[in-house]
Amino acid sequence: MDGNGRWAKTHGKNRVFGHRNGVRAVRQTTEYCARLGVKYLTLYAFSTENWARPSAEVTALMELLVYTLRRETKELNKNNIRLNAIGDLSRLPKNCQKELAAAIENTSHNNRMTLTLALSYSARWEMTQAVKNIAQQIQSGSLAIEDINESLISSHLSTAGIPDPELMIRTSGEQRISNYLLWQIAYTEFYFTEKLWPDFDENELYKAIYTYQQRERRFGKVLEKR
Ligand code: FPP
Repeated sequence: MDGNGRWAKTHGKNRVFGHRNGVRAVRQTTEYCARLGVKYLTLYAFSTENWARPSAEVTALMELLVYTLRRETKELNKNNIRLNAIGDLSRLPKNCQKELAAAIENTSHNNRMTLTLALSYSARWEMTQAVKNIAQQIQSGSLAIEDINESLISSHLSTAGIPDPELMIRTSGEQRISNYLLWQIAYTEFYFTEKLWPDFDENELYKAIYTYQQRERRFGKVLEKR
């Protein structure tokens, strides 16, 4: 969800104004994805690297998260959407952790779509945790080196149980991955748009999905030509 800061600048406002309008795009995208039958939507809301932003911006983002969770949990339930979070959640402020845990618990019975927020997340952090975890199990004797395979590694990531993404969308014209789901995107299709995140709307989502539908996914194989 990139481009909130630039969007705010074009409106002559500060960066936090951009994040607030970014929440509108989060709400709309969640709703339209659920309507289209998307089962898993994962949003990169705050990266490990984002902690290095000015503290006023970090605080504002955390407050926005708490405020949004409080306001939207009812709406998530109404739409049968389950909330989930990945990342180093222990670094989030205590009130944020509490609100997040409550929203996750209160929506845990929903099964139309899983909305995962990546918060204080980076793929290298996640993979480091997985390696440590696997090493500990080997050290304690509950796992043998021969047991290590791709599915075991996947099951030690914070996305365990969530299928690998079919489509990754990045807004604001940047064409890089920025430490996001590096293991999981091995065969993901990418869609880059110039639109800044607060301007990402229903139409943009449909364009991204339409483009995805035109792609031929071969997963490294050759498709039989008749
Ligand atoms: C990137 O734009 C955006 C972020 C770091 C924050 C994303 C957060 C939201 C959309 C709102 C909070 C989300 C939830 C789920 C309540 P940027 O600030 O890097 O923009 P720039 O590249 O134009 O400076």
